[in-house]
Amino acid sequence: MEKKEAPKSALDALVSLCKRRGFIFQSSEIYGGFAGFWDYGPLGCEMKRNIKESWWRFTVRDREDVEGLDASIIMHPAIWKASGHLDTFSDPMSMCKGNCRKLMRADQIWDVFEESTLRETLAGMLGEAGKIATWCKGKGKSAAPGLYTVQHPEYLEKIFEQLKTITDVKELFILLATPEGETNVLPCPNCGGVMTEPRPFNLMFKTIVGPVEDPSNVAYLRPETAQAIFAEFANVMVASRQMPPFGIGQIGKSFRNEVTPRNYIFRSREFEQMEVEFFIKPDEAVELLCGHVAPLTDETDLSEPQADWGWECWHKYWVEQRKQWLVKNGLPEDSFVEYWQKPDELAHYARACVDIEYRFPFGVQELEGIAARSDFDLSRHQEHSGKSMEVFDEPLKLAVKKLSDEEKAAFRAKTVAEWEARGKTAEAANAFLDRLFEGRYIPHVIEPSAGVDRMALAMLCNAYEEQKLVDEKGKEDIRTVLHLAPAIAPVKVGVFPLVKNKPELYALARDIFKKLQRRYNCFWDESGAIGRRYRRQDEIGTPFCVTVDFDTLEKDGTVTLRDRDTMQQERISVDDLIRRLDDLILG
Ligand code: GAP
Repeated sequence: MEKKEAPKSALDALVSLCKRRGFIFQSSEIYGGFAGFWDYGPLGCEMKRNIKESWWRFTVRDREDVEGLDASIIMHPAIWKASGHLDTFSDPMSMCKGNCRKLMRADQIWDVFEESTLRETLAGMLGEAGKIATWCKGKGKSAAPGLYTVQHPEYLEKIFEQLKTITDVKELFILLATPEGETNVLPCPNCGGVMTEPRPFNLMFKTIVGPVEDPSNVAYLRPETAQAIFAEFANVMVASRQMPPFGIGQIGKSFRNEVTPRNYIFRSREFEQMEVEFFIKPDEAVELLCGHVAPLTDETDLSEPQADWGWECWHKYWVEQRKQWLVKNGLPEDSFVEYWQKPDELAHYARACVDIEYRFPFGVQELEGIAARSDFDLSRHQEHSGKSMEVFDEPLKLAVKKLSDEEKAAFRAKTVAEWEARGKTAEAANAFLDRLFEGRYIPHVIEPSAGVDRMALAMLCNAYEEQKLVDEKGKEDIRTVLHLAPAIAPVKVGVFPLVKNKPELYALARDIFKKLQRRYNCFWDESGAIGRRYRRQDEIGTPFCVTVDFDTLEKDGTVTLRDRDTMQQERISVDDLIRRLDDLILG
């Protein structure tokens, strides 16, 4: 078997398969589609459920230190003021002042230019001043009508010598688009006109709650699931009798009015997130309780949480947990990259943030993030709501009680110095220590945050393969196969009767199908040659197929069990079938 070269656009082939076989459809297609919105068909919704189910089991149900939550999508607007989303959750937008009046994200203008035909045209003329001038006076009028040199060809004379020497296509574009005397021009990659200065555009969708369309009734569709977790932190902690370190996990829809939804389901306006806010003790509390904070080194064993872990160990632990989950669900370790944000890329309150990036066909892009967010979120909600977000930690109070006055003073001096070194005031450090010595603190947070749709896309991209097969007679054939992990595959088992005109065989096959159907999503297929039925299942990623044939009925009661990836078949007794499939599918 020879692996066929990736098709010219691997994503196009996948998009076409997903539509044809019922994974993903464009929303509102009969009305021409609706940008940034997608519908998951019969197979897509099964696959998405499987991703969420796997995440939920691994992250919430199988752990004793994580609780679940399913909060409302529309919440009190004050939440978004406290979280900072109302003031800062925006993209910089520019509008073309030239011919096309297009609105674009200012930070994506050069990406759009890179993919444009205008760039290709200009690159083909680099260094050829005469050609460029002729183009501006001719074809340029339709290709880039907003370009300054197209509208003012007399200016070409002034820059003619420069046009001969420019070797960079971006520089050439800027020169052709820049009106005389102006600097800092941002040219429009669509028509060559000049873009306006970027202005912030808030990404939250607004809605009105109640019958009166009044600004006081404006609310927002949540742009992330995380804030509901912070808002419900105290309720969940009390109700579930948890204390830090513990987490709250939630899966649900989020909405962002993305300016340029792109790359299929990668960046949508409506999507789902799977987020955990994992609440930990501040390092100072750990030190008082354990006498030290475990340093994070290459040798640190991160397999089981420890009482002496500070934020660094917890953060790395969650990075490792997320990687484990990705690998367990079929994404090979070399298909993603761990990107540690640099200090100047971090939000002001964040201590670290790791993006797990996947090698999508359109580039290496963020799949999910794991952020160490300090006590920022709970502190903001405490400040804005007036409700305490502190926990009272009895063992901590007792540990402090055992300290002498000198030891307390030394701890205070050391902590104040550390806070000052991180740019915080001594006043803030002292206020924190006063509460800490009473056993009270606002927990810090580690936030692993993933997108369901982005995960589905990564898994589909990773799974897609077109194999060139050659049979014994030398005949070539292409087998399209989705190598989805069994836990993620929308259909787990295809069940086929070899023939449909033998009633006993047919009835036996139906009986097996019904039994399996009670355990996992199965597909019954009785039409066409067996080989074709296998191919139909390969294309949607069904990991196993069971065929009931004459031997089942007349000889030894065995069926054939066929493996999607190896295409090998084995005979197995019906009695052993369920046990075997449980092992293969549920692990
Ligand atoms: N609470 C943190 C948070 O929301 P984020 O990086 O903005 O962080 C987390 O989003 C994850 O949600 C991303 O890594 C991505 O998987 C997914 N996501 C974000 N915006 C998305 C969009 N417009 N379309 C699809 N998925 C998106």
